[in-house]
Amino acid sequence: MSFEMDAARPSDLLILALESSCDDTGAAVVRARADGGRAQGPGEILSNIVVGQEELHAAFGGVVPEIAARAHAERLDIAAEAALREAGVALRDLSAVAATAGPGLIGGVLSGVMTAKGLALGAGLPFLGVNHLAGHALTARLTHGLAFPYPMLLASGGHCQLVAVLGPQDFRRLGGTIDDSPGEAFDKAARLLGLPQPGGPSVQRQAEAGNPETWPFPRPLLDRDGADMSFSGLKTALRRARDEVLSTRKGLSDDDVADLCASFQAAICEVLVEKSRRALAGFAAEWGRAEAFCVAGGVAANALLRAQLENLCAETGLTPCFPPLDLCTDNAAMIAWAAAERLAAGETDPLDLPARPRWPLDHAATPLLGSGRKGAKA
Ligand code: KG4
Ligand code: ZN
Repeated sequence: MSFEMDAARPSDLLILALESSCDDTGAAVVRARADGGRAQGPGEILSNIVVGQEELHAAFGGVVPEIAARAHAERLDIAAEAALREAGVALRDLSAVAATAGPGLIGGVLSGVMTAKGLALGAGLPFLGVNHLAGHALTARLTHGLAFPYPMLLASGGHCQLVAVLGPQDFRRLGGTIDDSPGEAFDKAARLLGLPQPGGPSVQRQAEAGNPETWPFPRPLLDRDGADMSFSGLKTALRRARDEVLSTRKGLSDDDVADLCASFQAAICEVLVEKSRRALAGFAAEWGRAEAFCVAGGVAANALLRAQLENLCAETGLTPCFPPLDLCTDNAAMIAWAAAERLAAGETDPLDLPARPRWPLDHAATPLLGSGRKGAKA
């Protein structure tokens, strides 16, 4: 499929995108201004449909890839139709159709890629396969029109990376988790303490009444140089602390739960903030002073983490940039924007583009992660 763009002439790009890499089925229409071969943020979100699958997976304690893929296949065309309707846009008005082409649970990614290719082929439109992590990393350009380069922290249930965002397809990893993501750690902590899922908000609520100094939980890898993180040991420490309380009493009191949650939350936040501090120093040394520090992902909703990261920004003279939460978590608007960034430069993908379970943002960096509860994280 060929696509001719006169890079010298400003134009409007209208993109329909699909997102299906985990357990949310997303479809969105985004308008972007293209000028001089670049998409100029902020973009305009005309629709952003997200259909969750929580109820389908609830009984299994995690996302079941086969169930997710089937649900995506059943819902993607309905979501796409709803996104077009809500945006007041017909297929023929579009500049391109895009989909997340990885990384993620491969069945779901395939469902999205096949649906987008079918729509593009049927309507005679260009197709683009987008890196899901690039979608997260570029969201600050969609929402705030942030200029390259900028440092960002992506902390969610599926991901944990510190990245230098240098261009639409140019990313350097500054650090990341070597095991669990912080969101997974919060979710596992909640399970250990009998609190409802998702764990992050439950732990945060309990922590409000607790003393964070009750339990001296470890701060993994803080003693080691660099910005890599580890969160899997923390849940073991929490289990031990819980069992220690249970060995002296019959059950956990409200105060016990509050203190365990506050101590656990403090440990995670300290690691994320300290590693962010190092990543920001590394960024400044290599690319100079950044304008803003962007923080995205479900864990960015944590009030303590937000406050501490805002302090870090104040200390380092950076503007904190937190995109609104519905654009921090998985959504198709960010995929449409990432596609617009490439389309503005005249790029499209062939219709035989493969879906990829793994697709690191920084090709040169060595892989850090195994496959987590929500699929491959890098
Ligand atoms: O980005 P997200 O919505 O989804 C994926 O990872 O796909 O992130 C969800 C994660 C969950 O693990 C949840 O426990 C965590 O974000 N989370 C929080 C808070 N709200 C959501 N973690 C800590 N504090 C919160 N307030
Ligand atoms: Zn994601």
